[in-house]
Amino acid sequence: MFSAELIKKFKSTPTPFFYYDTALLRKTLEQAAVAAKKHDIEVHYALKANANKQLLKIIQGYGFGADCVSVNEVLRAIECGFLPDKIVFAGVGKSDEEIRIALENNIYCFNCESLEEIEIIDEIAGKLKKKASIALRINPNVNAHTHHYITTGLEENKFGINMWQLEDVLKALTRAKHVTLIGLHFHIGSQITDMNVYKTLCLRVNEIQQWFADRNIYVPNLNLGGGLGIDYYQPDNHSIVDFEKYYSIFRQFLKLNPGQKLHTEPGRALVAQCGALISKVLYVKKGIQSNFIILDAGMTELLRPALYQSYHKIENITSQSKNTLKYDVVGPICESSDCFGKAIDLPETNRGDLLALRSAGAYGESMALDYNLRDRAKSYLTEDLK
Ligand code: LLP
Repeated sequence: MFSAELIKKFKSTPTPFFYYDTALLRKTLEQAAVAAKKHDIEVHYALKANANKQLLKIIQGYGFGADCVSVNEVLRAIECGFLPDKIVFAGVGKSDEEIRIALENNIYCFNCESLEEIEIIDEIAGKLKKKASIALRINPNVNAHTHHYITTGLEENKFGINMWQLEDVLKALTRAKHVTLIGLHFHIGSQITDMNVYKTLCLRVNEIQQWFADRNIYVPNLNLGGGLGIDYYQPDNHSIVDFEKYYSIFRQFLKLNPGQKLHTEPGRALVAQCGALISKVLYVKKGIQSNFIILDAGMTELLRPALYQSYHKIENITSQSKNTLKYDVVGPICESSDCFGKAIDLPETNRGDLLALRSAGAYGESMALDYNLRDRAKSYLTEDLK
């Protein structure tokens, strides 16, 4: 991913920073767009994965819509060129103010997660003399077999409307005069690598659609959410996920109603592999079991390892040493969880070396914190470093 020329530029760039390989990003978006078009699937990019303005401007150029979870994301998407009528607004806790602003911006659809939320949207839309289009986010009770912090489709999770609440929701919908039901929405979790999970979801969605058909309800849109996982272990061998395989599962197992449109909301799969967090070694300190590499980047720039014990491949991109040693790679933050990897094999590393934390394009910059009053890391696209 890093040519000698690029590394030379990195050496004169203040660290830590996010680097985005725009050639890889464009190739990924192209493959996703081609597969989606072939299977007639609408793509709404999930901004929560990365809402960097420069990236968003590139992503919207592929004709994708946006999946937003705050009104700030909605406004950011519009600012970066996404069409309001391709923006879905999801989330379990949309505030009244957020609902109002989203309505005023004429977004495509609210993905609703509770009966009370539908009533509030109805009330606010009524006051604005508008009609809100909504989809019901239904909790299908399907296990995504991923980390429990990023599992969302089980009944025990806070997300979505459970099947046993649906009768009441339908009654509320008949009372709500300022909302129109235009779809059903599902999202069962993130970093899903077992494609059987999507097959199971499709079969479950077929049953749920039947439940609606039994009541003579046919919605024009079906949204199966995001969640497609990537290979954190081999980012170079698997730099782009197999979108064709992913989308063909939906086409194979989902029973759509005549004319029904299919939507998805990938985040990670579109942006993870094009990003890396580049950090400088501040110190190398001898420990009891192994040596510590202390970086100038920490959990404030890449929270995933501390929060989910997740793996990101770590490379020393400047060491010339042939000698491999074991290191614990840690950040400078005052937390023991501020650790990117334990007993990692790396070439002999010294103060001033640059390390790359790979696959950091998704949920890196967007989850950054200013804990310890840290400065926000800057970000650079390939063309910025020319
Ligand atoms: N749609 C909905 C309703 C979602 O909740 C999410 C992610 C997505 C789409 C996009 O999922 P993706 O394709 O990126 O997996 N911070 C965690 C991931 C949290 C995902 C939350 N929802 C991580 O770093 O792994």
